[in-house]
Amino acid sequence: MVGLVEIEEGLARILVPPAEWRKGPNSADVEVFYNPTMELNRDISVSLLNTLSPRRVLDGLAASGIRGIRFSLETSAEEVHINDRDPKAFELIKRNIELNSSDAIAHNMNVNALAMETGFDYIDIDPFGTPVPFLDAAVRSLSRKGVIGVSATDTAVLCGAYPKVCKRRYMANPAHNWCMHEAGLRILIGYIVRIAATHDIGLRPVLSYSADHYFRAYLRVEKGARKADKALESIGFLDFEGLSWKEGREYGPMWLGPLFDRDILDSMRVEEHFGTKKRMEKMLEIWKKEADMPLCFHESPEIASHLGTSSPPMERILGRLREMRYRAERTHFSPTGFKTDAPPDDIFRVFGHN
Ligand SMILES: C[S@@+](CC[C@H](N)C(=O)[O-])C[C@H]1O[C@@H](n2cnc3c(N)ncnc32)[C@H](O)[C@@H]1O
Repeated sequence: MVGLVEIEEGLARILVPPAEWRKGPNSADVEVFYNPTMELNRDISVSLLNTLSPRRVLDGLAASGIRGIRFSLETSAEEVHINDRDPKAFELIKRNIELNSSDAIAHNMNVNALAMETGFDYIDIDPFGTPVPFLDAAVRSLSRKGVIGVSATDTAVLCGAYPKVCKRRYMANPAHNWCMHEAGLRILIGYIVRIAATHDIGLRPVLSYSADHYFRAYLRVEKGARKADKALESIGFLDFEGLSWKEGREYGPMWLGPLFDRDILDSMRVEEHFGTKKRMEKMLEIWKKEADMPLCFHESPEIASHLGTSSPPMERILGRLREMRYRAERTHFSPTGFKTDAPPDDIFRVFGHN
């Protein structure tokens, strides 16, 4: 392996290939993957694991092992397993475990085989691109109250840039409009929930979000056929017409239920040593506010252009809607987006339209 460089993230010190050798999804490079921009994703997973306290944890697609090593150093998990199928990644994982005097256990297996062999209370699936090939085995190996954390970087597919791929891969029709990030995340969750239901496993999102170039969803098991039926009741379709939407037949199937568990958000802590502390604090604050807001958000520039006017500042939009006794909050999906229970006519009034 080329000369490695040591980086610090959270409480871990990790050897990774220098930037020009870090394998990416579209690269022919041969070395192990490490993406510093996913630190937020890893900080959030550490915080969530400290809230949920799973005992036996698997970082299934680990590359350098950074995430699993952080779980072993920064959470109360009793047993951390770190796996990658790539022999070079496996060697690096072992070195990094040693460097951190961690007691994590390294594996060099296909994650599907490992998951089918062993049960886990938490499984992390953080692949290149789509998580689809790993979901079936992962959900089946979860314990009674187990949790699965899933990343998807094929956001262009989920957001409707390639509808045929989305239909094949997620068996869903994607939206390609101002709301596509929320719809795409909901298609991903809907797919995971449907896969779990085929095994009589109910899954519910506890925290799911869109950030940078990826979607991330954490879902918790509610075992039993009846719980699976119940979860499926929250799967449906949306229709978009102009600037509004309603339950319909066209876009989906997707998860139409809550994206967050408010109690879990309330008990998550942002640690001093998190490299993305400030950004995570801001995200947590917005998530808490939007957690029980209605489905889908409005995009202020879309409304302004529809009305041939300009967008008022966000605080004014929210303030006016609240004066009119509606609920109104920002959304993490877009800095210019907001969620409200106000009907379109009253929203238009806020934009100066009578
Ligand atoms: C995006 S990287 C993981 C990044 C890592 N989780 C992090 O936070 O830095 C995906 C990894 O999955 C591994 N992989 C791909 N298919 C696999 C499989 N079927 N079983 C186990 N590992 C696999 C690849 O070798 C690669 O190292």
